[in-house]
Amino acid sequence: MHFRVQPSTLAGGNVVVPGDKSISHRALMLAAIAEGSSQISGFLAGEDCLCTLAAVRAMGVNVDTPGDTTLTVHGVGLQGLQRPSGPLDMGNSGTAMRLFAGVLCGQTFGSRLVGDASLSQRPMGRVIKPLETMGARILSQDGKPPLTVHGGRPLHCIDYELPVASAQVKSALLLASLYADGKATLTEPAVTRDHTERMLQSMGVKLEVRGRRIEIEGRQKLQAADIRVPADLSSAAFLILAGLLGRGADMIVKGVGTNPTRTGVIDVLRQMGGRIESARERRLGREPVADLHVSPSELHGIDVDPAIVPLAIDEFPLLFVAAALAKGTTTFEGIGELRVKESDRIATMARGLRALGIAVSETAEGASVTGGRIEGGTVDSCGDHRVAMAFAIAGTAAQAPVTILNTSAVATSFPGFVDSLRSVGVDIVTGDQP
Ligand code: S3P
Repeated sequence: MHFRVQPSTLAGGNVVVPGDKSISHRALMLAAIAEGSSQISGFLAGEDCLCTLAAVRAMGVNVDTPGDTTLTVHGVGLQGLQRPSGPLDMGNSGTAMRLFAGVLCGQTFGSRLVGDASLSQRPMGRVIKPLETMGARILSQDGKPPLTVHGGRPLHCIDYELPVASAQVKSALLLASLYADGKATLTEPAVTRDHTERMLQSMGVKLEVRGRRIEIEGRQKLQAADIRVPADLSSAAFLILAGLLGRGADMIVKGVGTNPTRTGVIDVLRQMGGRIESARERRLGREPVADLHVSPSELHGIDVDPAIVPLAIDEFPLLFVAAALAKGTTTFEGIGELRVKESDRIATMARGLRALGIAVSETAEGASVTGGRIEGGTVDSCGDHRVAMAFAIAGTAAQAPVTILNTSAVATSFPGFVDSLRSVGVDIVTGDQP
């Protein structure tokens, strides 16, 4: 599929974006191994989370789906999962693969985790190594998927300093610890999204969080809970940037998750001059949410603080576009992790922006983008959902139409993206790959 976006004047108004991807994955997985039935509302029915849904069903968990976004998960308890009859397909989802690796090494049966071409290139050693230190055995292809997880091995909790800031690795270790003897102490190099910790606590698991350090006792059971999933800030961010760049009316993105481990994108855009106000701040369970009011703004370049990187890790494609339309130069340092996301996001963004007339220089761990006029043209998203959506927003503020190739993966995280953009006045059409 491709998108073709015309320079657009935004109509503004209220927008609602789909549920949070990270929280939806966790809600399904934790509800599946909890005692009793949990209701999940606001679930993201995107392809990534549907892989997680198919996987829990393949292991014998009954899930009623009365609506696309409302599910009842009949939990089977920590030991109630059944051997799947074939490989579990994680699609494009690193979160599904890494978190399931943690759950599956606690089972009595063996299992195999496979993924698509992009996921099959992503590093799994970061999760295999500490899980093996806990006693698990996981075979891979040189540290990449497919993974073969051996079952029936006794696990013990470990003290572990994570070498990379990764919520997926942290979560895999927390989940494996539920099946392990002893007490685990996990220390992150920087605070990362803490949805697993919050959800475990809401399901009765005791854990102690002190800054970058988490302690959890092994062998704790989970109790079913009702989980309300906030709208995904990582999806809302695309509309927020469209609203900032639009020369039209103000926009309000409603009910967005504002967990402080995720809000780096708002901080960076504000530092660049973006007018974003938070209103109706409230909570859905243990997760903070708010309505975000966005007003058209003049953006200027900044040196993005590397300390903020883990708090905005998925929003860099979008921040590259913000930088391309800002006055002056923006520098990004400490973003090497972007090279092992759904694509090498530093390279895909640099190549695409250059094709649209923007000056970008890159290093192994950073980039520098000098703002200017975005010309019309064609860019390849390389099948990366967030890159595709970032270039769609670039197209709204370009001098001429922008065509974005390989956009099907947008359905992994933001089904309805095209309709959401149209609802605020963006002229976007889709078509078969030219
Ligand atoms: C996620 C963690 C982040 C993020 C990903 C979702 C999660 O990855 O990039 O999109 O749900 O835990 P890392 O853990 O690799 O940093």
